[in-house]
Amino acid sequence: MVLRIVDLDGSKILVTGGAGFIGFHLCKELLNNYNANIVVLDNLSTGDIKNIQFFEGELEFIQGDIRNLSIVKKAAKDSSFIFHLAAQSSVPNSVNIPDYDFEVNARGTLNVLIAGKENNAKVIYASTGTVYGIVNEIPTSESHVCAPISFYGLSKWIGEEYCRLFYKIYDLPAISLRLFNVYGERTNKGVMFDFLQKIKNDPTTLEILGTGQQSKDFIYVLDSIEAFILVAQSDKADGQTYNVGSGTSTKVIDLAKMMLKKLGLSSENVKLKFKGGEAWIGDQPLTHADLTKIKSELGFNPKVSLSEGLNRFIKWFENSYGHPKRNNKSY
Ligand SMILES: NC(=O)c1ccc[n+]([C@@H]2O[C@H](COP(=O)([O-])OP(=O)(O)OC[C@H]3O[C@@H](n4cnc5c(N)ncnc54)[C@H](O)[C@@H]3O)[C@@H](O)[C@H]2O)c1
Repeated sequence: MVLRIVDLDGSKILVTGGAGFIGFHLCKELLNNYNANIVVLDNLSTGDIKNIQFFEGELEFIQGDIRNLSIVKKAAKDSSFIFHLAAQSSVPNSVNIPDYDFEVNARGTLNVLIAGKENNAKVIYASTGTVYGIVNEIPTSESHVCAPISFYGLSKWIGEEYCRLFYKIYDLPAISLRLFNVYGERTNKGVMFDFLQKIKNDPTTLEILGTGQQSKDFIYVLDSIEAFILVAQSDKADGQTYNVGSGTSTKVIDLAKMMLKKLGLSSENVKLKFKGGEAWIGDQPLTHADLTKIKSELGFNPKVSLSEGLNRFIKWFENSYGHPKRNNKSY
């Protein structure tokens, strides 16, 4: 990452969800390149305490829940920036427990905005491409209608609407980033992790959820972090909503084949099985971000190709969980 921002340097920054996958990478970037004074607020429901321990006391950690306004206010005290990543982040869970999903994602985001207003902080909200639902425009721009097909998409969209109105009514600089499929080191969810785990368990068969024809915009995690930093440092971004993706879309079956090839396997020695139908309730069959707005307004430029990102992810998986197949191969 080349950009360096004066405003972020040495600032007090709250990162909600900083023990999670994307939150970890964001904290790392803020500590390494901006000498930030970070507080992480996280209830560790899906986050990992190891992601906090990694920083060895370089940041303050508050274990607490964003549904509790007084804890959020305490964590946000004197912050100039709040990166709001804490969320119930699973589409299937949102279908099983929609009330909990709402409380965390909608109510929790409102709490964060209230605390942001109290401190006149800039709030950067991690929203999602799932707000769009079934799309009729590919690639999909921010002006596309939002009609989520999961409670997760809905509760995250409500969070966006709170951001929009806090900006309009209170002039609070709040920004929503519609992240597409973020992947990379330290995530133990998502289709890539699922594939590697399955191959490790049984290198003869790979079951693909859905038809394999579903197509996703996969963005490497460090490219998504660039978007967080860019909007934090630009006044132009205040009150705006931006897509954050790679600007390409890949069919899940092609991803599977690409991964097998990198592992030195092929669909001849690994039988591909398809579960068929929808991969899970609320899964979007087609995602592909139009990046025109964030590129032209902020100069966003995702750099890591899917092939390179997969190499890094496979390497990390191997170091963390062991080799996904027996014979050795370097990526
Ligand atoms: N990973 C993706 O592909 C993706 C895509 C679109 C949007 N997002 C959004 O980005 C953000 C980060 O996602 P992630 O993939 O790192 O997920 P994650 O589950 O790894 O991180 C979420 C973090 O929030 C914490 N958390 C959950 N509920 C909380 C609560 N009530 N109070 C305090 N902390 C709580 C969890 O413990 C976890 O550390 C989320 O807001 C998610 O909706 C992620």
